[in-house]
Amino acid sequence: MVVGSVLVTGGTGYIGSFTALALLEADYKVVIVDNLYNSSKEVINRIELICGKRPPFYELDITDEAALDKVFTEHPDIDNVIHFAALKAVGESAEIPLEYYRVNVGGSVSLLRSMLKHNVGNIVFSSSATVYGDATRFENMIPIPEHCPIGPTNTYGRTKSTVESVITDHIDAQRMKAKKAGKSGAEWNAALLRYFNPAGSHPSGIMGENPKGVPYNLLPLLAQVAIGKREKLLVFGDDYASKDGTAIRDYIHVLDLAKGHLMALNYLREQQPGVKAWNLGTGTGSTVFDMIKAFSKVVGHELPYQVVERRQGDVLDLTANPTLANKELNWKTELTLYDACKDLWKWTENNPEGYDQDPPKAFLDA
Ligand code: NAD
Ligand code: WQD
Repeated sequence: MVVGSVLVTGGTGYIGSFTALALLEADYKVVIVDNLYNSSKEVINRIELICGKRPPFYELDITDEAALDKVFTEHPDIDNVIHFAALKAVGESAEIPLEYYRVNVGGSVSLLRSMLKHNVGNIVFSSSATVYGDATRFENMIPIPEHCPIGPTNTYGRTKSTVESVITDHIDAQRMKAKKAGKSGAEWNAALLRYFNPAGSHPSGIMGENPKGVPYNLLPLLAQVAIGKREKLLVFGDDYASKDGTAIRDYIHVLDLAKGHLMALNYLREQQPGVKAWNLGTGTGSTVFDMIKAFSKVVGHELPYQVVERRQGDVLDLTANPTLANKELNWKTELTLYDACKDLWKWTENNPEGYDQDPPKAFLDA
């Protein structure tokens, strides 16, 4: 039995693909849209290989409102949207800010306009821990709760906090309009999910993170060192006020993160709360050296690194306080850092060319 129908934008990307899989496994119908700017259509095959269901896929740009209208018209049962499609490179966002605002903010406006035309009220939005900026500027805000004032320190983060405002204003306006007409407006809801540092892959070894171009996140870079595509990891600073001098992050397994989206969507549908923000993280911080140790352990040998200057814009500590999501969404992370490293290594070994190759034979034979 289908429990509901979800449009997943950016659904061939890293987190979107795992969320699409989690939705299909929970008996939601899923329609994926993506322009494949940073992903591959092969992910649709991998989703089908894992769960036996193949979601319809539309190659379209999120800023193309007419194309979105067509998808909603062809799938009139869609009653929810999970919105991942975006540009996400922090450094690049400072170089081409207009492109980041056009895609991330403009694309979200196009999507909301199209949803409005088709009376689709529930949206789950991929926000980011980066909206908090440097939470150590306040006392007692680490681990970071949702009531920590937001204050992004980079262009990418400002596109995310802007979209949070756009969505909030839109939902509030629809609820107000409905009330004036003597209706409840309860069908207009949004979850603003602020995720910390996603990590890991599918334990089968056939689905994982496959960014186009040079990766810039710690774990994909470590994986490249381990597989021999990169000589060593550059550690950005060992003079932070942490136990070993390197910066602290909250690494969350992508399977736990995907489940968080499912629980948030269920909450919107059942509780109809209006707009709510939740942190999705583990609540435990790990340093860069912790990560090198953890990944070296699964690979079976020490991974080479060199300490260099701090990276501009990095902060000491981004660890979540996930209590609100634990309580309200009845969700908490179950997988460990070791699981994330183990799964990432399996994905890397099995798919040295990512999705530019056939699924690993070992999986197909199993
Ligand atoms: P990703 O790049 O793998 O996925 C984003 C997808 O959006 C890609 O498939 C890309 O092709 C697509 N896309 C980009 N521009 C588009 C456009 N104009 N039209 C249609 N599709 C477009 O990234 P991800 O890590 O899966 O991130 C998903 C979402 O989560 C993004 O909104 C990102 O900002 C947010 N987020 C990511 C992280 C992280 O560290 N990965 C952390 C917090 C928030
Ligand atoms: C993690 C730690 C680096 C690379 C970014 C975005 C954030 C969110 C997640 C989207 C930091 C250190 C890294 C390297 C290193 N994305 N590092 N050497 O910066 O915490 O967060 O991705 O919303 O918005 O800012 O993630 O993986 O780049 O870095 O020492 O080669 O690893 O300094 O302490 P970050 P990251």
